Amino acid sequence: MPYDFDRIIDRRRTYSIKWEGPAYVPAIIGPNTRWNHETIPMMVADMDFACPPALIAAMRRVADHGIYGYTSIAVEPRYLQAIADWYQRRYDTELRKRWIAYADGSITAIRCALETFTNPGDGVIIMPPVYGHFWDLIQDDARRRVVASRLINDKGYYRVDWEDFEKKCAAPGNRVFILCSPANPVGRVWTAEELARMGEICRKYRLLLIADEIHSDIVRQGMVHIPILKALDDPSNSILISGINKSFNLAGLRCSQVIIPDAQLRGVFTKAYGRREPTPFALAALIAAYDEGEDWLDALNAYLDRNIDFTLEFLRGQLPQVKVWRPEGTYMLWLDFNPLGLSDEEVHRKIYWDANVWLQDGLVHDPDGGRGFQRICVALPRKMLEEALVRIAGAFRRI
Ligand SMILES: Cc1ncc(COP(=O)(O)O)c(C=O)c1O
Repeated sequence: MPYDFDRIIDRRRTYSIKWEGPAYVPAIIGPNTRWNHETIPMMVADMDFACPPALIAAMRRVADHGIYGYTSIAVEPRYLQAIADWYQRRYDTELRKRWIAYADGSITAIRCALETFTNPGDGVIIMPPVYGHFWDLIQDDARRRVVASRLINDKGYYRVDWEDFEKKCAAPGNRVFILCSPANPVGRVWTAEELARMGEICRKYRLLLIADEIHSDIVRQGMVHIPILKALDDPSNSILISGINKSFNLAGLRCSQVIIPDAQLRGVFTKAYGRREPTPFALAALIAAYDEGEDWLDALNAYLDRNIDFTLEFLRGQLPQVKVWRPEGTYMLWLDFNPLGLSDEEVHRKIYWDANVWLQDGLVHDPDGGRGFQRICVALPRKMLEEALVRIAGAFRRI
């Protein structure tokens, strides 16, 4: 069935953080950022596409019923079954239903794991450039310590610095590794060997491995995401977090899952997290997404592939100095403007003010090395993407 990803849908006045950005955080509008009805926002990792029709129909059935009382996955066996079936079909990974718990967002689940399994001041390893929210989550919310094991930038292809990673895992007081898989914003889909090696090192030094796999369903054609639970011979020190949020563009429904094979770890986590249940909309949406949304997801990935190719081609032609590598997963590209020889502030000003396009500064995802980088989210209709790129190229042409 063909899906219309080219359709431009007006998202203003729909409570969207992306489209009402300044209302959400007025302070983020600095002197170098414009915001008006012509701004193209590409900073938040949600998509400007309508959800799969089956999913909309499922939520419409819930809405039409008119009563939205307490709901529970305990009374709807298809919920856990849909997740288990999804992992079996898409990832050839067998999950026991009892391993799975509902979470109202990946970040809340990671925070709970940090607070439950570590003490204030303990070290939490992450691999920058990585999802910027990990910093506030670890330092400000959970009051733990960020330990950065930086990825090595090999001409835009990012690799683990194994020596550094092992050294940091071995250091006393470092208790958890948060893996971003696939990696936002650098676009890596980790190989079986890389995942096995990360797991082995974490086990050796008794670290808890939390795999944030929220982007797992968004990969380029030919790439295969491997769930951490499949990659490891012994996943007993691992927690996998994933969900329908990113894959089916439902972040507002706050519907993720935490998957923990080890009974003891799971028991402690679920007790700390407490009994949380999805809304009737999230419950119906998850079942529809996993049972009926596969075809849409494949079409989405094909569209994203073309958006990424379009962006790369455009940049090659119009801004050849900007370095970018074709990501293996996610709908983000990590653009390196450093070869232009401009300051970070100038790059920001050209994009956010002159071009009136809102991306995300590299420093958000890499406070030590992100200067001159920008993250661009290309999950939007091609015409809008083209307009944004034309404006950006125009702004830099006026140097
Ligand atoms: C790697 C990563 N983890 C977590 C999140 C947030 O997920 P949630 O809305 O489920 O908390 C995002 C959102 O962009 C993300 O990119």
